[in-house]
Amino acid sequence: MLPTYADDIYSDDGIVRSYEHYRNIRDLGPVVELAASNALAVGRFRDVRALLLDHQRFRSSNGVALTQRCIEAVTGTTLFSDPPQHQRMRKVVARPLMPQAVEQLRSDLQDAADVLIERLVERRAFDGVTDLAQHLPVSIVSSLVGLPEAGRESMLEWGAVGFDCIGPINDRSDRAFAKLGELLDYVLKRLTVSEITPGSWAAHIFDAAEQGTITKEEVPKLILDYVGPSLDTTILATAHLIDLFGQKPQQWADLRAHPELSSNAIEEVLRVRSPIRGFARRAVETVMLDGSQIPEGSLVVALFASANHDERKWLNPETFNIRRDNAREHVGFGVGRHTCVGQHLARLELQCLVKAMIPRIRRFEVGTPVPQLNNTLFGFSSLPVEVYP
Ligand code: HEM
Repeated sequence: MLPTYADDIYSDDGIVRSYEHYRNIRDLGPVVELAASNALAVGRFRDVRALLLDHQRFRSSNGVALTQRCIEAVTGTTLFSDPPQHQRMRKVVARPLMPQAVEQLRSDLQDAADVLIERLVERRAFDGVTDLAQHLPVSIVSSLVGLPEAGRESMLEWGAVGFDCIGPINDRSDRAFAKLGELLDYVLKRLTVSEITPGSWAAHIFDAAEQGTITKEEVPKLILDYVGPSLDTTILATAHLIDLFGQKPQQWADLRAHPELSSNAIEEVLRVRSPIRGFARRAVETVMLDGSQIPEGSLVVALFASANHDERKWLNPETFNIRRDNAREHVGFGVGRHTCVGQHLARLELQCLVKAMIPRIRRFEVGTPVPQLNNTLFGFSSLPVEVYP
């Protein structure tokens, strides 16, 4: 018998106090039944890794989301696929996101970050989410995706809706599901190649279909792979970074004195505050995981955010420490075949912002954030910030 966790981690409280719930789940055992969500959960670091690396027995095509309606709606995307289809699709989706391709964006992103931070320092007080964190994703990344203006303007809302739908049946996913129809209708039925920006990521998906690497029917699903996760995730990570340095001014002072710690500091932000809480897998046979039996057919949520706070892995896991020597081992981008294909871009955006802020901002003061209540994302919709040059 698996231990049961009675509290609903997808309720408002379950989201706002996520990390307390994760600790309870980890303490209960390697695999826990989420009574409110009709699913199992894995919260310890080594079990989350083991589950994600076992692609044979834990599948994504009939997993990832907690409801059949979501699985059916987005089936065929890279995220919701298994080998051999997965490798074929991922190769196409990954092309503009490989390190060398992303590196070519560095100077534009750095220029935009410099201009943004200069302007915000002049303003002194601003919103850390809407004025700062959203800027690079909304002004640059959304245009790289290449949707026409109407689609591009909706990307932020659609992204959040997609992440809500991945959760269990609740009010949040019910509301989101109504909106998801709008996104699917747009991308699956209305979007044509003539409207797409030439040379964009979406254009490259259409090209892959022309060349026969993927089928025409697969095109919209691969475009969804960009529309869903390319904005919110990085926005939330950026706001977390500002909040953490606002709360820990000595860490910011240390980073200013040692900018070479920037990459490690970014990994530590993603460890302490992982923007994606967890994604599920479907067990295709009965599996023993760390001594617990997972019945065939179960949906098991791999709680990335919980693994990144597991006291069995991390020393003082709650402490934000930019000098933590194993910060890079976090699973905030997942692990294994489905590990985040956009991680190089996400890191680059964060690096450019940090590089722009180090010489210009001596200190951040942060107010009380407004949580963004989402079934799958963890972060803020607003964060009052004041900066001192
Ligand atoms: C800080 C920012 C980000 C975080 C924390 C994040 C997190 C993740 C995680 C945890 C996964 C693994 C899913 C799984 O194992 O089921 C993933 C996959 C994915 N991410 Fe990201 N992501 C971020 C940014 C991005 C960006 C900027 C893009 C696109 C430009 C992107 C596109 C994708 C795609 C397409 C997948 C599916 C890959 C596959 O199934 O093979 N992500 N991401």
